[in-house]
Amino acid sequence: MDKLNIGIAGLGNVGSALIETIEENKIYFLDKAGVEFNIVGISAKTKNKKRNFNISNYNWYDDPIEMSKNDDFNVIVELIGEERGISYEIIQTALKNNKHVVTGNKALIANHGKELFKLASFHSLALSYEAAVAGGIPIIKTIKNSIKLDKIKKISGILNGTTNYILTKMQQDNMTFDDVLKIAKDKGFTSDQESKLDIGGYDAAHKLTILSTLCFGSNLTFTNNHVEGISNIKIEDINFVKKLGYKIKLISESCLIGNKISNFTSPKLVSIDNPLASVDNALNAINIETHHLENLFLEGEGAGGKPTASSVLSDLYDISQNEKFDNLGFKIDNLQNFEKYSAENAINSYYLRIMTVDKPGVLSSITNNFSDFEISVKNILQLPENYESIKPIPIIITTHNVQKEKLSNVINKIESLEFVKEKITVLPIHDN
Ligand SMILES: NC(=O)c1ccc[n+]([C@@H]2O[C@H](COP(=O)([O-])OP(=O)(O)OC[C@H]3O[C@@H](n4cnc5c(N)ncnc54)[C@H](OP(=O)(O)O)[C@@H]3O)[C@@H](O)[C@H]2O)c1
Repeated sequence: MDKLNIGIAGLGNVGSALIETIEENKIYFLDKAGVEFNIVGISAKTKNKKRNFNISNYNWYDDPIEMSKNDDFNVIVELIGEERGISYEIIQTALKNNKHVVTGNKALIANHGKELFKLASFHSLALSYEAAVAGGIPIIKTIKNSIKLDKIKKISGILNGTTNYILTKMQQDNMTFDDVLKIAKDKGFTSDQESKLDIGGYDAAHKLTILSTLCFGSNLTFTNNHVEGISNIKIEDINFVKKLGYKIKLISESCLIGNKISNFTSPKLVSIDNPLASVDNALNAINIETHHLENLFLEGEGAGGKPTASSVLSDLYDISQNEKFDNLGFKIDNLQNFEKYSAENAINSYYLRIMTVDKPGVLSSITNNFSDFEISVKNILQLPENYESIKPIPIIITTHNVQKEKLSNVINKIESLEFVKEKITVLPIHDN
């Protein structure tokens, strides 16, 4: 196609940036790619809201569903972002009416994508979603096209900019989680509603669900994820792990273990030697291990109007160039319902902070318990002798690889000792 007639539903951060970019570069796109991006119609909730472009240049639709049915369009871009509701209806209506769809909606794809991809495949249409994972980083096309035939062993990374900003700021400015969250809200990085998905790890897990489908041919099943957010991360842990040569990052990772899918999103210690540790503030990064590539590392802006609009543009360009659409990188009928890998079987090394009374014999009693359970201790953090600001005192231990179930048993045992004063803080250590 040398001309796309586009309808855009949702004119917020991404929708507005997309329109601005197309308005500014229409001639450049035509000259460079030979494609005309012709925005025909637009729709949002409130018509008379101030926008950074002139809405009278386009046909306004109060009802985006009407726009999705209209034969004036061959592509509908959904940038509203409801997990189901109107967003689902727009996409379903557009596909049923023979229109390609581009969306940035990870929550919808992760939770309800299955039936929509079936519909797209049935009608031989594109349902494209580069913007749904890691904003401006071209991760979907890298997996689906560039390394399509290279078998993937594992994918891991930092998939949520807000949580990465919070953890970075806590570490750099020695601030508590609550104080940094307030700044993130004031700066507009996250709202009250969004922060539940961001902080709780769910936004990253939505993206991981999509990546695990692309990498391993797993059916889109959000319930396959183990999800833990960052709200329990304490500034003292950030400072202790720094002494051990680590940073705390919210890491999402997916791989197949036997015939089970292992999808974890949780805060982890990342060694400062690992490139992921240098991914700070609101940046995202993804590492892919394949049979041919030890580490393929992509880093960039994971959010924001312009970076995300760049991914939408790239999907629009692909639609103009292709006749066949390989939306998921696997034939839709070949996707599999993998069993979920149990968290208790997961093998990791761990960081533990044990708060105890300061008296002789405590440390040996704790290490004896580790020996009794045959768990090998890697490091014990020696605190300065005049460490007096917190009572009880912390004992920091890192372990070698151990099965979570075995670790839980020793933790239960140690927590029952009379000199242990708090629930033990346990964080896994990222190992690649
Ligand atoms: N922002 C990012 O950095 C980013 C990054 C990656 C992916 N995404 C995804 O991209 C999508 C859009 O994000 P965004 O940040 O641009 O969202 P946003 O700024 O909140 O904009 C949402 C837009 O949807 C419109 N809208 C809401 N309800 C509607 C309805 N019932 N009918 C028609 N329009 C409706 C709003 O209209 P009004 O303008 O009239 O209020 C607004 O224009 C989401 O799926 C998001 O997850 C965003």
